[in-house]
Amino acid sequence: LFAGSADFFSAAPSLGSLPPMKGVEIAFAGRSNVGKSSLVNALTGRTTLARTSHTPGRTQQLNFFDIGGRLTLVDMPGYGFAAVEKAKVAAWTELIHAYLRGRANLSRVFMLIDSRHGFKAIDTDILDGLDKAAVSYQIVLTKGDELKKSEIEARTHNIEAAISRRPAAYPEVLLTSSRDSRGIPELRASIARLIAE
Ligand code: GTP
Ligand code: MG
Repeated sequence: LFAGSADFFSAAPSLGSLPPMKGVEIAFAGRSNVGKSSLVNALTGRTTLARTSHTPGRTQQLNFFDIGGRLTLVDMPGYGFAAVEKAKVAAWTELIHAYLRGRANLSRVFMLIDSRHGFKAIDTDILDGLDKAAVSYQIVLTKGDELKKSEIEARTHNIEAAISRRPAAYPEVLLTSSRDSRGIPELRASIARLIAE
């Protein structure tokens, strides 16, 4: 699936400008700077497909990437802190919520959580919204290269316990790193299973 072509095809600054739905769509959501765009690049094996930055607030629109004509990846703006105007952040947050609630071909949301920090209040707010809208999601821990093995185990257990009572949560938590590629094959396999369904 990820061995073929991967191309940017659309950017949507607002709900009115979403591209038409086709095939299976998955979205990458998470706080600013958690590593969403880097993960899109790691998955597709392309270093500059999605634009990344040290500064939170890099991705400012919903960016749609076509994977071999069968899958659409959506790189979302981050929620929470961003070094940009309040009004802009409020507009994205509304766009994110509306998109996540209303996109009919959205098969799963990959909720990215920084493995060093775990869940923040703003993450649980988003998860509450997904549970309420019955949108299925899977937790992906990012920047796993920054943690020791014992810290990874503790974090994973803690996250698994926190999602165990959430109705729309996919039970498996994936630990990834876009730096050293750990967890990327497992994430690709999880996505491939969605397409096969
Ligand atoms: P916004 O678009 O601003 O919401 O950010 P984002 O979630 O798309 O994050 P992005 O991919 O732009 O990465 C943010 C920062 O985290 C960059 O400095 C990346 O180099 C760094 N980063 C991303 N993935 C990893 C990782 O797996 N390990 C480490 N150590 N750093 C990472
Ligand atoms: Mg980004």
